[in-house]
Amino acid sequence: MAESMKGLHRTHRATEVSNANIGQTVTVMGWVQKRRNLGSLIFVDLRDRSGILQIVFDEPVIGTEGFEKAETLRSEFVIAVTGKVTKRSGAVNTNLKTGDIEIVAESLTVLAEALTPPFPVEDGVQTREELRLKYRYLDLRRPELQKIIMMRSKVTTLVRQAMTEMGFLEIETPMLCKSTPEGARDYLVPSRIHPGMFYALPQSPQIFKQLLMCSGFDRYFQIARCFRDEDLRADRQPEFTQIDMELSFVDIDDVIEVNEKLLARLFKEVIGVDIALPIPRMSWTEAMNRYGSDKPDTRFGMELVNITDIVKDCDFVVFKGAVENGGTVRGINVKGQGAMPRKKIDALVDFAKGYGAKGLAYICIGEDGTLKSSFAKFMKEEEMAAIVKAMGGENGDLLLFAADKNKIVWNVLGALRCEMAKQLGLTDPSDYKFLWITEFPQFEWSEEEERWVAMHHPFTMPMDEDLQYLESDPGRVRAKAYDITLNGYEIGGGSVRIHQSDVQERMFEALGFTPEAAQERFGFLINAFKYGVPPHAGLAYGLDRLIMLMAQTDNIRDVIAFPKVKDASDLMSEAPNVVDDKQLSELFIATVNPETVEE
Ligand code: AMO
Ligand code: AMP
Repeated sequence: MAESMKGLHRTHRATEVSNANIGQTVTVMGWVQKRRNLGSLIFVDLRDRSGILQIVFDEPVIGTEGFEKAETLRSEFVIAVTGKVTKRSGAVNTNLKTGDIEIVAESLTVLAEALTPPFPVEDGVQTREELRLKYRYLDLRRPELQKIIMMRSKVTTLVRQAMTEMGFLEIETPMLCKSTPEGARDYLVPSRIHPGMFYALPQSPQIFKQLLMCSGFDRYFQIARCFRDEDLRADRQPEFTQIDMELSFVDIDDVIEVNEKLLARLFKEVIGVDIALPIPRMSWTEAMNRYGSDKPDTRFGMELVNITDIVKDCDFVVFKGAVENGGTVRGINVKGQGAMPRKKIDALVDFAKGYGAKGLAYICIGEDGTLKSSFAKFMKEEEMAAIVKAMGGENGDLLLFAADKNKIVWNVLGALRCEMAKQLGLTDPSDYKFLWITEFPQFEWSEEEERWVAMHHPFTMPMDEDLQYLESDPGRVRAKAYDITLNGYEIGGGSVRIHQSDVQERMFEALGFTPEAAQERFGFLINAFKYGVPPHAGLAYGLDRLIMLMAQTDNIRDVIAFPKVKDASDLMSEAPNVVDDKQLSELFIATVNPETVEE
């Protein structure tokens, strides 16, 4: 039976008790990790968020009633124990912070009993993630997750402190917003008072933070929840958190300086890692050409090599055809993997196809220098030799090639490079390689919409020297946009914003918005900028991704207390759910059975 807290006061968390407390009486509270009966003694490991402390129940000390109560304790019971801190009588446990002490219990209170948990509450459980997420409140009791959630709290506390010290104001922006589709799909919220109308949950506080600059707050930050209805991947959640900021009277270098200070402080104070400043910078074009990615993992080499010039006139139609269609042929050299069995290479070909490749060509260089290749029969000997040379191929190397439109070649080889590094163990999670990516293209051509779309967002300022090409050659315009990347992840991104109405109008036009459409969507921003807006710029981090890397996990769900799964549902609360007809009718909403809708 659960007893009350009456008269009880916790004096310490489990691992706050130390050698210094020997001889003192303390009261600790927490969960029973484990109970062992050794005849006249009962040992209990008591767990709380700080760790584990051993309790000893000895009948002559606690009395018969207390001892019998201790005999009923089972895993996950919640208890309070008062007793004396002593040196351990038995073996010292060097794995525990409190491994050389124990509490000799003088009184025991059972605050709550517990059912047997569906999986053991301990690190390294093999339980399926679905089951753990269904019982997330139990999963979160496990020390490894507790550590991450506590780390996350430390990070947000430090962000507030560091940003405040650098003169930033924390300001909240609305959750119920106007839908301004551009980027991901919005989550919509129906309005009861305005039948048939909807709010959108913010994809980011972008427009509001720019308006705050217009209002003169000059340095803003917020730890902001964002919502994006997009297909989930390993590093994406439908709702996630940004460390969002905006600064007035600045250009790129000022933003970078503030953020390098912030990152250095976070990594030093939270995980003891020194970041060498300044963080290197690389243009988008260089990143794509060298790594096939705008978030390159620079912990290892295996850089892309462009062999287009060597193969453009060869007889291998795959290569030649790709070049004729305006594409390129590029490769990577996987050092020392020349003896990779055919089956494993076939698996790599399938991997490449998953990233849009039509195939993957290869050359295996034997230890004796002989070449085994999927396309040698189409090539002249000197062409093969020229390829191997360009690739820096040595005996025992594996060379992999993709031929296609640039975008596909980059995508395929960029992913393949990371996959090979993973397989070969070249990615040490405690090696933190930061990189700024700059000079992004302003626009991307959307085949689907047959128009230029903003690569970052429509408020991003073009680079001064490229402004002249906004109308004549949009593909050539580079943006004053920057991403901060870490070990192959984009942990943050931002840009200098357009603050001149005429440039903004030209931008909307380049994006294919009529002045009316632009006014309809972004009218309040356009109008605000007519009343004196300072030059401004900003950046937002994906807090979840940042914590993921700091905690060295590759699962974003590990760093969110109550995450969603791939289909955007919450397995614990079972959101989303069907709502009452009454709720719907109040909102003037009727739903349609998806099965009856024709495509
Ligand atoms: P952006 O869209 O690049 O920029 O987002 C900033 C950072 O947020 C993280 N992120 C995500 N994390 C988890 N799940 C998601 N679905 C998700 N989507 C994005 C990424 C990304 O780098 N308003 C601009 C910032 C600005 O210009 O100041 C913005 O939102 O780590
Ligand atoms: P095929 O003649 O289609 O059998 O292709 C010969 C070799 O080229 C095979 O190893 C294919 O995997 C590879 N290949 C096919 N398409 C491409 C491509 N777009 N890029 C690189 N290699 C390819």
